[in-house]
Amino acid sequence: MFKRSGVWAVGAVVGVSALYWLFAAPKVIDTPIPSAAENIERGEYLLHAGGCISCHEGEGAPGLSGGMALVSDFGTFYAPNITPDESTGIGRWKSRDFLLALKHGRTSNGSFYFPAFPYRAYSGMTDQDVLDIAAYLLAQEPVTHEVPEHETPPWLSRWLMAGWNRLADMSGSAPALNTEDPQVLRGAYLARSLGHCGECHTPRNALGIPQLSHEFAGATMGESHADEIDAEGLASWGKEDFAFFLLLGMKPDGEFIGGEMESVIEHNTSMLTDQDRDALAAFFKFPR
Ligand code: HEC
Ligand code: HEC
Repeated sequence: MFKRSGVWAVGAVVGVSALYWLFAAPKVIDTPIPSAAENIERGEYLLHAGGCISCHEGEGAPGLSGGMALVSDFGTFYAPNITPDESTGIGRWKSRDFLLALKHGRTSNGSFYFPAFPYRAYSGMTDQDVLDIAAYLLAQEPVTHEVPEHETPPWLSRWLMAGWNRLADMSGSAPALNTEDPQVLRGAYLARSLGHCGECHTPRNALGIPQLSHEFAGATMGESHADEIDAEGLASWGKEDFAFFLLLGMKPDGEFIGGEMESVIEHNTSMLTDQDRDALAAFFKFPR
């Protein structure tokens, strides 16, 4: 009798710990969202560097009011309205909501976002950068715009993302950069944490988890192929070629880029300072 209840007790502890490990809400700071002009201006720059516009631009509606269909191997996801509209957007959001969403893929009521929203890349952002983006978003005109529901297979529930996130945590990390060079490190931050270049350029496994040990080795999603852009793939590109490409979308052979990369150039890399484009070039050409 005693033995059996002991087994149950151990089982219950293991079970509760596993549930906690999967579902516990991450701790984030709770401070007021800044509203100074300088934070809003920084936020606007970071919004470009984060490539947010490529997905959240309003579909037939102004501003970042969402509605764009993002087709993936796991269904069609619609980017939400991230204007400060109180009913259809994020007008009621506090710093906690932004930090949980962007850095952890979690909603403030404990649920999970789907990784069609590249929160795993954004998890490397500093809290300050997230809050400056929030400052910018909340300073925009609210737009009332209801976006369609996601079209996903019936088995794909938000709760499954608890397990997916843990598997992704365990599936390895990107190669370490053995350097203190601030330019290379800034480039790494822009590429990995903001520009989420790996979301398209890093191959994924059958569960859709990016294989970071093959970071930037090229990947195919649906009909679109994103080239290999690691040191090998870019062997024939000089740093200047790369920085020039990020500004204009023209490759060293004089051809202009098409596909999804066009939007990355238009809304993200062409909007950066020369210094940041040079930093990206320094990072991608850095031997790893
Ligand atoms: C690749 C497309 C994509 C990019 C890039 C992207 N998002 Fe999103 N975002 C989404 C999708 C899809 C969702 C909804 C996910 C879900 O419903 O689980 C979302 C959700 C959100 C939400 C939650 C909104 C809500 O109502 O719950 C916020 C806030 C947000 N994104 C802000 C941003 C910001 C800021 C950036 C840039 C730093 C960004 N997103 C970049 C696709 C994207
Ligand atoms: C939304 C998906 C997506 C994102 C995000 C993305 N790319 Fe791309 N990229 C592509 C696709 C698709 C192509 C191929 C386009 C074509 O040839 O039609 C491409 C092509 C390229 C090329 C050309 C390579 C060659 O050999 O021709 C470079 C360089 C590149 N991307 C760099 C980047 C960098 C740097 C980032 C991050 C700032 C980035 N990409 C983010 C999808 C993406």
